Amino acid sequence: MICLGIESTAHTFGCGIIDDKGRIYSNVIDAYKTETGGIHPSEAKKHHENVKDKVVEDALKNANLRFEDIGLVSFSQGPGIGPCLLVGMRKTKEVASKLNIPLVGVNHCISHLEIGKLMTKAKDPVLLYASGANTQIIAYEGGKYRVFGETLDQGVGNFIDSFARYIGFGFPGGPKIEKLALNGKNYIELPYVVKGMDVSFSGILTNLKQKFDSKKHSNENLAYSLQETAFAMLVEVSERAMAHCGKNELVIGGGVGCNKRLREMCRLMCEERKGKFFSPPNEVLVDNGLQIAWLGVLQRNQATTDYNTMDIKPYERTDDVDIIWKD
Ligand code: ATP
Ligand code: FE2
Repeated sequence: MICLGIESTAHTFGCGIIDDKGRIYSNVIDAYKTETGGIHPSEAKKHHENVKDKVVEDALKNANLRFEDIGLVSFSQGPGIGPCLLVGMRKTKEVASKLNIPLVGVNHCISHLEIGKLMTKAKDPVLLYASGANTQIIAYEGGKYRVFGETLDQGVGNFIDSFARYIGFGFPGGPKIEKLALNGKNYIELPYVVKGMDVSFSGILTNLKQKFDSKKHSNENLAYSLQETAFAMLVEVSERAMAHCGKNELVIGGGVGCNKRLREMCRLMCEERKGKFFSPPNEVLVDNGLQIAWLGVLQRNQATTDYNTMDIKPYERTDDVDIIWKD
């Protein structure tokens, strides 16, 4: 059985195709980018409207498949930006009804975890989910993927993007800050904000902006210190979650997981506690349709042809979902 999945929670419109054995056929994304400034929901929605048909066609073409080969369709139900989610849901309903096949809605955050497991063969990991909008430490316990720690304000990616925007870069800022940080030499002290198992970035952002305005520091040193501070916070709570749950695997997910320094810090922490660190390929760290297609496969028993009963869930939380498909 082959599943076609569509992702559209935020800036990316993606379509991925995978079968129930985990064989990957294709994964096409088209991401809305800006030269300066952040994401505007109505602009992102317009972007998705413009690219949706081509992305799905390209995914089928790359997979060497015809529409009729698809047996199941899945879409990202939430959490995400309402207008963007609607574009994805409508496109999947169009595909599913044309073929008269079942449709299933899935949770975006959980899809990061499940695709990470599939690609790395991790069995029962803690997930450090570090994306633009989300920052959560997630692990399976008692029938749900539980959130053991999370950001109290913005996601780590949005935090990095905001600082990048402040110093003149467009979206996404993460890769630009990573490049700058490579040439940073001196650590400038920044607030380190871990509260219990949670993290917070808005105070660090204000502090960084003040330091930038003071013109006393190079952008390279600011970028370097930003990464060292924010990533140490993430690694600290990830380690504590591993210890608390008695799990020895850590998987990274979300676009910030593309950052080499963050991965290195995660790997070192895991090595020190004789655990294993897994980083899936970048292609599945950033938002993509393949993660949605794979979670669709796992949740195929919940699929329906009664399309009208399906809606988006912009505010759905990771631990709202009962995990009925595990093992
Ligand atoms: P979600 O909907 O899961 O919250 P998202 O829509 O924010 O995700 P992702 O594609 O998972 O999107 O991640 C995008 C984020 O990843 C952006 O904030 C971007 O700056 C950041 N990012 C990408 N590459 C890097 C990098 N090399 N270093 C740091 N951050 C990065
Ligand atoms: Fe994501």
